[in-house]
Amino acid sequence: MEKPHGSFGVSFSYRLLLILSIMIVLAQSQDADVMNILRDAINGSTSLPQWSDSDFCKWSHVRCNSAKRVVSIQIGNLNLKGSLPKELSKLTELRRFECQSNGLTGAFPSLPTSLQNLIIYHNGFTSIPQDFFKGMSNLQKVRIDFNPFPRWNVTETLRDCVAIQTFSADKASFFGEIPDFFGAFPGLTTLSLRFNQFVGGLPSGLSGSSIEYLWVNGQEIKLNGTLAVLQNMTSLKLIWVNGNAFSGPIPDLSNHDQLFDVNLRDNQLTGVVPLSLMALPSLQVVNLTNNLLQGPTPKFKTGVSVDMIEGTNQFCRNETGQPCSSMVNALLSVAEPLGYPLKFAQSWKGNDPCGGSTWLGIVCAGGNILAVNFQNMGLSGTISPSLASLTSVRRLLLDNNNLTGTIPSELTSMPLLQELDVSNNRLYGKVPAFRKDVALKLGGNPDIGKDKPSAPLSAPDSDSGGNGKKNNSAVIVVVVVVIVVLLGVAIWGFIWFNRKCKHSGKSQGPTPILVEAGNMAIPLQVLRGVTNNFCEENILGRGGFSTVYRGESHDGTKIAVKRMESGMRGEKGLREFEAEIAVLTKARHKHLVALQGYCLDANERLLVYEYMPQGTLSRHLFSWKDEEGLKPLEWTRRLTIALDVARGVEYLHGLAQRNFIHRDLKPSNILLGDDMRAKVSDFGLVRLVPEDKTSIETRVAGTFGYLAPEYAATGRVTTKVDVYSFGVILMEMVTGRRALDNSQPEENIHLVTWFRRMLINNKDDAFQEAMIDPTIEVSDQETRSSLSIVAELAGHCCASEPYQRPDMGHAVNVLAPLVENWKPAEENSNDTISGIHLEMSLTLPRE
Ligand SMILES: *[C@@H]1O[C@H](CO)[C@@H](O)[C@H](O)[C@H]1NC(C)=O
Ligand SMILES: *[C@@H]1O[C@H](CO)[C@@H](O)[C@H](O)[C@H]1NC(C)=O
Ligand SMILES: *[C@@H]1O[C@H](CO)[C@@H](O)[C@H](O)[C@H]1NC(C)=O
Ligand SMILES: *[C@@H]1O[C@H](CO)[C@@H](O)[C@H](O)[C@H]1NC(C)=O
Ligand SMILES: *[C@@H]1O[C@H](CO)[C@@H](O)[C@H](O)[C@H]1NC(C)=O
Ligand SMILES: *[C@@H]1O[C@H](CO)[C@@H](O)[C@H](O)[C@H]1NC(C)=O
Ligand SMILES: *[C@@H]1O[C@H](CO)[C@@H](O)[C@H](O)[C@H]1NC(C)=O
Repeated sequence: MEKPHGSFGVSFSYRLLLILSIMIVLAQSQDADVMNILRDAINGSTSLPQWSDSDFCKWSHVRCNSAKRVVSIQIGNLNLKGSLPKELSKLTELRRFECQSNGLTGAFPSLPTSLQNLIIYHNGFTSIPQDFFKGMSNLQKVRIDFNPFPRWNVTETLRDCVAIQTFSADKASFFGEIPDFFGAFPGLTTLSLRFNQFVGGLPSGLSGSSIEYLWVNGQEIKLNGTLAVLQNMTSLKLIWVNGNAFSGPIPDLSNHDQLFDVNLRDNQLTGVVPLSLMALPSLQVVNLTNNLLQGPTPKFKTGVSVDMIEGTNQFCRNETGQPCSSMVNALLSVAEPLGYPLKFAQSWKGNDPCGGSTWLGIVCAGGNILAVNFQNMGLSGTISPSLASLTSVRRLLLDNNNLTGTIPSELTSMPLLQELDVSNNRLYGKVPAFRKDVALKLGGNPDIGKDKPSAPLSAPDSDSGGNGKKNNSAVIVVVVVVIVVLLGVAIWGFIWFNRKCKHSGKSQGPTPILVEAGNMAIPLQVLRGVTNNFCEENILGRGGFSTVYRGESHDGTKIAVKRMESGMRGEKGLREFEAEIAVLTKARHKHLVALQGYCLDANERLLVYEYMPQGTLSRHLFSWKDEEGLKPLEWTRRLTIALDVARGVEYLHGLAQRNFIHRDLKPSNILLGDDMRAKVSDFGLVRLVPEDKTSIETRVAGTFGYLAPEYAATGRVTTKVDVYSFGVILMEMVTGRRALDNSQPEENIHLVTWFRRMLINNKDDAFQEAMIDPTIEVSDQETRSSLSIVAELAGHCCASEPYQRPDMGHAVNVLAPLVENWKPAEENSNDTISGIHLEMSLTLPRE
């Protein structure tokens, strides 16, 4: 049995071998034929390779596999002439074809789909098959640059190149738009499309791509649109977009750790150069010449090669790193949510909007801005609350544009405003309460007064702050639906309860248990009960976005209930509401106001805090004259309060090893208990800095007078922003003057400027008399020296460069020994709490 079986096996194997051999010989001779044809085709060259051996596998520049199939032909830089035969497509094992830098001409042939590397740049190929890339799923590297192809556009078949790593086609006669799918190749690291005829923008599909080297400079017709997508291309090491017509601002590059070469020159970029560009850790070369960049002339680290020819941008001044005037800063903040329009950048020159040349849209008289006239300028984006800092403005004309969003309530604080025209835009939301004598023109905004715009808008969200990204559209949709469904009910309820409050006075429902253990959510009915149906009599204070009511639960515990205005019950309000809950449920500290619960009930948003009977620090610091029974704060109390605040903020900054930033520290957000100990409140603007970072960029919010200059200019927040505000508060405590004091002569309005000037001018002992709040008794040397230490700390905290400011821990260390020198004076807690001005959550001073 064994033998026949064996014999059968041998004979079978033999036949199989024979068949295989024939196939191989056939294929081999096929490759041989092709190679002979190739040799003949390029034989006109002077430096023809030694291709005489009968075995083509022994030819120079050619490699075969063990089956004698050609796998690579590398005939670059040989000064070859002639053209390539179409038979090359039969080399079905070919992986590498390189013929770069020769004088080859004619049509480039199709190649087999086994191909991995295609290097054919710098030749004279006059065409390439439209479907060349069809099925090329092994292709990794393509360099077809500098060939006189006829105009062609990137074909859909390129999608088949799923293994692509390098695609380089400089001056390869491409036209049309850069296709989106370049962003979808998982391994693509180099994309070079210089000197073609691409039009349109950088496709949004590049967002999140793995591209490291991006060259799109020098398009014949020029690419346009914004560079926004670069923000999401965090693998980038090199960006060359120079010589195009890109517009809008340079995007945030704070996640681009490896970026070393950024060439943006010769475009139409506008806006303030983001700090993230200057802070790039790997940056070596940056080119910014010939744009319309605004704001301060950026200052790069030493060692970075900077191409930024003076006078070829629209920086406010030529000296690097020097801040712009406050008027320019304010106008730039206004332009920011409009996308820094080109026409403004072209017209806004220098550092004085009311100086030599006329600034588009700005009307001046006597060195002050009297009117802002942006009528009919095709603007889109949102209205910046920073307009409110232009306090001399009487007319604000924004009509006939495509503005979206809401009218910022900050504008109501503009003291001289006579007319606000926002007609014919796409604004929505509640109209804030302006003075009666302000002429409002609101027509042509179909959604004004409504909680949401009716048509879905892709309104730009200029807030790139960390928490903002979490916007959950599902939640929003639910909220909208709930609001719509319950609107009628709510209106009915409001009317009913208000009537009930007025008519039946202190009627109370069944007294409820306020907070169940472990559950922070409190039913609306309960809060209605404890605040006497949000009765006027219970109002502790009003802010721009909220009203605070006093409440008393059945056991007599007093609470403060903050009720968001209906204007803040929209999406933005929800974010701040959630931010505040998020912070306060994590943050428990004796110098942070404790959250006791909240209520998110249809269109009501309420926060419940511990009750702080003495109200705000600003009440005691500035408004004591207006209230009976209030006395100016003694210096010792001020010191204790300062230390409390410093400790609370220090805790916030290091909370759970993360950086929370308050962003709105000011005396009206510091609350006092009966023992006159302080707690920091109002966490609606708090931002959490992501774990691996020290700063984030946000929409500028906060309060003028307390805003750190770099924050106001760039929106970039670090913990040093709070340190600055804390310094301003210290200055207010020392001087008894407000951060912005309009009763002062022009040059003294801004407390920080005045204070630092005084500090420098009166270096010796004379400083106290002029600067110190007259109500402070400077009776002894100890007070004198502690005042001087605090004044110096205040100046330090308000240093113009964030890195020059100390951290909160330092402030605690300076203040603690001063406080401990004092025995706290006798407590006097007989002051009543009714009718106090509790300024909650204002984002502008309410002068
Ligand atoms: C090149 O090939 C052509 C035909 O293919 C032939 O006539 C010519 O003699 C060849 N020249 C050399 C140098 O081999
Ligand atoms: C390619 O060109 C054709 C014809 O001009 C055009 O319709 C098509 O949109 C272009 N494709 C791309 C990707 O630009
Ligand atoms: C970009 O340029 C094209 C013309 O090349 C123009 O049609 C288009 O409107 C421009 N787009 C932008 C955003 O400027
Ligand atoms: C960046 O990515 C985020 C998340 O994927 C996306 O929501 C955003 O629109 C992208 N931005 C740009 C400019 O592509
Ligand atoms: C970009 O800037 C670098 C450094 O200044 C310079 O060497 C280079 O020539 C510039 N590139 C262009 C395209 O101007
Ligand atoms: C800045 O420099 C440019 C060119 O040197 C000059 O034309 C311009 O007047 C300067 N601007 C200021 C504000 O000094
Ligand atoms: C608003 O935008 C639309 C297109 O998006 C445009 O047709 C219209 O002219 C714009 N309106 C104004 C007043 O610029």
